Amino acid sequence: MADRIAEEKINQIRQAVDIVEIISEHVQLRKQGRNYFGLCPFHGENTPSFSVSPDKQIFHCFGCGAGGNVFSFLMELEGISFQEAVIKLASRVNIDLEINLQNAQTEKKVPKELQAMKDAHELLRKFYHHLLVNTKEGQHALEYLYERGFSQESIDKFQIGYSLNSWDFVVKFLSKRNFSLEWMEKAGLIIKRERDGTYFDRFRDRIMFPIFDRNGNTIAFSGRALGGDDPKYLNSPETAIFNKRKILYNFHQAKASIKKLQHAVLLEGFADVIAAERAGIENGIATMGTSLTDEHIALLRQSVQSILICYDSDNAGIEAAFRAGKLLDEAGFEIKVAMMPDGLDPDEYIKKNGPEKFRHEVIDASLTWMGFKFLYFRRGKNLQNEGDRLDYIEEIIKEISKLKMAVERDHYMRQLAAEFSLSLDALKQQQKQYYFAEKRKSRGTSEHNVKPAIIRKQADELKPAYYTAERLLIAHMLKSRELAYKVQDLLAGNMFNVDEHQAIITYLIEFYEDHLEPDSAVFLTYIQDENLRRMVATIEMQPISDELNDQELSDCINQVLKYKKLLKIKEKEKEQKEAERHKDFLTAAVIGKEIIQLRKSL
Ligand code: CTP
Ligand code: MN
Repeated sequence: MADRIAEEKINQIRQAVDIVEIISEHVQLRKQGRNYFGLCPFHGENTPSFSVSPDKQIFHCFGCGAGGNVFSFLMELEGISFQEAVIKLASRVNIDLEINLQNAQTEKKVPKELQAMKDAHELLRKFYHHLLVNTKEGQHALEYLYERGFSQESIDKFQIGYSLNSWDFVVKFLSKRNFSLEWMEKAGLIIKRERDGTYFDRFRDRIMFPIFDRNGNTIAFSGRALGGDDPKYLNSPETAIFNKRKILYNFHQAKASIKKLQHAVLLEGFADVIAAERAGIENGIATMGTSLTDEHIALLRQSVQSILICYDSDNAGIEAAFRAGKLLDEAGFEIKVAMMPDGLDPDEYIKKNGPEKFRHEVIDASLTWMGFKFLYFRRGKNLQNEGDRLDYIEEIIKEISKLKMAVERDHYMRQLAAEFSLSLDALKQQQKQYYFAEKRKSRGTSEHNVKPAIIRKQADELKPAYYTAERLLIAHMLKSRELAYKVQDLLAGNMFNVDEHQAIITYLIEFYEDHLEPDSAVFLTYIQDENLRRMVATIEMQPISDELNDQELSDCINQVLKYKKLLKIKEKEKEQKEAERHKDFLTAAVIGKEIIQLRKSL
């Protein structure tokens, strides 16, 4: 990264900007001691675990582990590259990067190509919109939209358009403006004919819904057929600028409202988002005809914690709502589910019953996630039948056991007991069994999910001694170049036991080769791996004493080396057993002696 923009430029920019000032534009910060605290923009939370250090010019979240310097903050928040973050900050503080950017020859071709793709989308979005709103050719399409209840305002707001019923309108339009047709084919706007290599338009005689990235650039289209043409929606293919696993329809417009309300409404289709907006729901978003992905969830986590799922109320919609809800629940979101009668979708419901009724009887009346599951598991069962009924009760008890709060569990147990006239005590006893089974299971799960700060803290306390020792050493090595080299010597070629820790000190020693002074924020630009960067920020933010005295230092080093010896002993013990099994008692005795030596050295 640093070979494209000179490192000195990067440092110049970093020194000219203040991380507190930049982050304050996105997060409300309060000063407390040396640091600033606020609500983390990368995961939903109610108590601040996000901190910014003006001294070190870094940030860190104790809740979700996000962390880094001012560049990483913008990269994560806006989903931009390191280079883009540097350029953005450079222009803010009037530092000229011109010369260095021109040097970046190897990388130049790609951004230029991407830029042309975006420019073409931008131009076509405007032109399609013009065709729909102002021309005779687009009139039947406009009438179709009015007929469906779309308003002029929403047609403008969502920049809806119309593509002409022509095989080569777009091809000519773009080539006249000197766009390379080869690139335009890669952008998914036109298609190449196998037989003679000529091009034709992908979208013909369709209502055009532009797809925006989160910064408002048009990066793709979805074209809806006017009649019963197949397919109903024709989407741009995956391209260098469009990845539908990452894109949420309307996110760029909804994000402000989502942040403000701390709440998002997830719908199934474009028409639903647009209809809901007409009904005053400004925080509506939709996936691109795919189910919810991990990438979508990561994007949502940056701005919101609570999500209302409002999918079609037909069978497929309910199944999809269950799948999406499950993923969001596992990712720690608070979930509600809205239901509509008669298998309608939100767009149809609003057209039939009006926006008022949609807001009050659908959105405001939405179910809790558990409430939804009460209905979901009932589907396809006849509760008059004893077998079905017992199955259902068991499924519900299992689900209740997954709830974290005792009051919630109690509430739903009572509901279940009341509905089926069962003894609450008996139900509770059964529920406890599932609860403990669930607890045992969840203890085995990875740390991948974001866990509440308190749980992470406990987990840290349970870490083995060598882990804590390595962390403490790194914390001090980050503060002192001299100590870093000293630790390196004392380790005498041995490595840290935790791979990530070893990677960090390898970077750090490399850093000290050309920097005489420690500098947390500069060091973070060295580390490209996000995981490691977060880890460094975590270590930087942990409070430590000013200096590590010799006794503490050698204790730490011993912990690191001791664990290696323990591993070695375990390994030898295995070999010894193996030898005994083969009745090779001589070898076993030799190994035994080695084990005694190793034990002594501990
Ligand atoms: N979709 C798609 N390709 C299709 C059909 C659907 O990408 N061939 C996506 C679109 O994003 C669409 C969503 O799936 O908005 C939901 O599909 P569906 O419920 O069939 O469409 P509606 O949103 O109800 O569209 P309309 O009201 O225009 O029929
Ligand atoms: Mn519909």
